Amino acid sequence: MEGTMRTPIIAGNWKLNKTISEAVALTTALKALVVDATGVEIIVAPSFTALAAVSDSIAASNIHLAAQDVYSEDSGAFTGEVSAPMLKDVGCDYVIIGHSERRQFFGETNESVNQKTKAALAHDLKPIICVGEQLEEREAGQTEAVIKSHVTGGIAGLSAADLLSCVIAYEPVWAIGTGKTATPAQAQEVHNFIRGLLTKAYSAEVASQICIQYGGSVKPENTAELIAQPDVDGALVGGASLEAESFAQIVQNVQ
Ligand code: 13P
Repeated sequence: MEGTMRTPIIAGNWKLNKTISEAVALTTALKALVVDATGVEIIVAPSFTALAAVSDSIAASNIHLAAQDVYSEDSGAFTGEVSAPMLKDVGCDYVIIGHSERRQFFGETNESVNQKTKAALAHDLKPIICVGEQLEEREAGQTEAVIKSHVTGGIAGLSAADLLSCVIAYEPVWAIGTGKTATPAQAQEVHNFIRGLLTKAYSAEVASQICIQYGGSVKPENTAELIAQPDVDGALVGGASLEAESFAQIVQNVQ
């Protein structure tokens, strides 16, 4: 049962990159390269300004749209924020929540991740909830404690039905943008731990259906061995998603 019922999800987190024309050029090239991809869910996450143009560009394709963040309120006096109804309106199916860069630089907490997750779910957006330990935490033997607080904090109060719409992305902070990928065994160990947390909080049946992506220096060359791990169900890709060829190659390598 393990691994067979979950469709792998490959998502490109473009972070703070790409103007509108660059974004459309990338999806135009990508569409052609992944047109025959089956058995894999493909997602791109441009910055807010490019969402509308990318949404049009991928409209009749097998590529789904995600935003990189969302605010917890639907509307009101919250200058600079973007809400779940707005993301739904522009064509997003997913939204990345709690990326380590947001936790590190923008004050994101487990509580705000939880509120954003609930806002996304209320508007039929699938949250991609990011969790992951920093290097010092791993070295101090705190990996499981950190992951437990990120996971349980992020999904606090969700029904099983809501959880089934969520994706969890395990991104060890020391592996992000460093070229230091977690070994397949390191990734599997944490993914298995996360699935165990979900089993305890919900049930084995529910936990077995949740997609847990790995992120952190995923490249075409290391995708297959990561995805071969029983609890690794996809990848959240940064740098290698900025070029159509390398991202398409990653998609290819999970099939
Ligand atoms: P890199 O693939 O550039 O390491 O980034 C990973 C990431 O943070 C994706 O969200």
